[in-house]
Amino acid sequence: MVLGFARIAGISGAMAAMQGLGLVAEAGVYTGPPKPPGSAGRGKKVVVLGAGIAGLVSAWELRKAGFDVTVLEARHRPGGRVWTVRGGDVMTHDHLPAQRVGFDAGHFFNAGAARIPACHHGVHDYCREFGVPLEVQVNVNADARYVSANVRNGLPLEDRQVRHDVRGGVSELLAKAINKGALDEELTALDRERLLDFLTQYGALGEGYAYTGSDRLGYEVEPTVHGAPFSIRKPIPLTELIQDPNWAFQLTFGDQLYQQTAMLHPVGGMDAIPYAFAGRLKSEIKYGVQVTHMKRTETGVRVLYSQKDGLAGTVDADYAVCALPFSVLKSVKCDFSAPVQAAVNNMVFDASCKVAWQAPRFWETEDRIYGGISNVDSRCNMAWYPSYGFDMKEGVLVGCYNFTGQAEPFAAQSLKAQFEESRASVDRIHPGKGRLLARPVAVNWAHVPHSMGAWATESPDTDHNTPEIRAVLEGDGPIAFAGQHLSPLGAWMEAAIRSAHHAIAGIYARASTA
Ligand code: ALA
Repeated sequence: MVLGFARIAGISGAMAAMQGLGLVAEAGVYTGPPKPPGSAGRGKKVVVLGAGIAGLVSAWELRKAGFDVTVLEARHRPGGRVWTVRGGDVMTHDHLPAQRVGFDAGHFFNAGAARIPACHHGVHDYCREFGVPLEVQVNVNADARYVSANVRNGLPLEDRQVRHDVRGGVSELLAKAINKGALDEELTALDRERLLDFLTQYGALGEGYAYTGSDRLGYEVEPTVHGAPFSIRKPIPLTELIQDPNWAFQLTFGDQLYQQTAMLHPVGGMDAIPYAFAGRLKSEIKYGVQVTHMKRTETGVRVLYSQKDGLAGTVDADYAVCALPFSVLKSVKCDFSAPVQAAVNNMVFDASCKVAWQAPRFWETEDRIYGGISNVDSRCNMAWYPSYGFDMKEGVLVGCYNFTGQAEPFAAQSLKAQFEESRASVDRIHPGKGRLLARPVAVNWAHVPHSMGAWATESPDTDHNTPEIRAVLEGDGPIAFAGQHLSPLGAWMEAAIRSAHHAIAGIYARASTA
């Protein structure tokens, strides 16, 4: 009789065993998935719940370690929230009519995960392992627009103008403060001189440390040949540019560690990553099976699932990796310990919506915007331009990407209302062009069956380091848990990968000590 290790050794035992076997990930440099100790998997069966990234990584690594693996996936595709939508696909929600996506061949919309930073080593290692080609995704673009009713009555301004006028304005004020002696106590005379020199270059200051604009702003009349007149744009005073409460965030968006100016994505759609795993796990993944129960048994774990047409099935295994988001797991009947069940019940998932359109590339032909994001003070937030197919005839533009406080009321509307709100929002960034947007599709993540949320909440008020979450990370008897919701990395594929590595380490520890 094989009993789950934690059941024998008590809750703190599994983590202790993982530590003893060198399987607990240390903070610091990424060293890849945990190494299986000896023949950890031989003769052992693992059931993996969910074929999102966490489930796929778990299945892939566990199979490599010699485990007999079965993955149960409710959908008919792998990837979970890594979902690329193409023409002919059907988008379903639990509150709205199904949408059949009308894009032409060659176009795609990453409805969920859509960008990868350079520093997400786990994602890059798997792309390398499977030969998934990546291309640059422009995330911040000086040619994109800023639009706010509070600034010049919603006139679309180029990113470069807002960015450099803010920098110039702040630099000028700081230079003034230095010259008035306001920083004499903070800085030596030499450092004051050095800072003034620095600000002159940094903020493009002119005579008397005044900011009067620079060619960083772009041209009002573009230069052509010598002698022909041209002019640079006039600067906008700082006091005007600080009137929109979101611009400081948006101007520094690409300075975030995980939101670099140039990101990456797989050529042709983000789902190349889950399909790379799934193509290698063909005989392990069962699609179209929805887990209804998970119970511990004398020998491990039993999972019951339902299928189409009232069919049902059972999988018995020594161990389970539960990679369902807790927004879904809370509807599965389980006999978890009280702290684990509390963690499952209490974890909050955020809502998020996107609306995508196929359209002629007016943003390229008229505005010279090649990829990146324009910001607008609407509930749709942005126009996110495609970083593929530059200068082709048409492309898919994301005309809305919003988050919990905005996304919940947005999703409560009809599809028609969602589309029209997005169209009107894009029209504010590109006046007169909203009418060119066609073949819309909307995703409302809080209502997508088998996800029921975009990601575990990233609210700064949410404490994920609780005894309940620690119990989840310890695992519940033969069951280890994985998923984006278990990593402080947040709403990223890398979070799912790192948590899967932790879960795998837990399975190795259980298998080695059983
Ligand atoms: N990581 C997600 C994004 O970049 C939330 O939009």
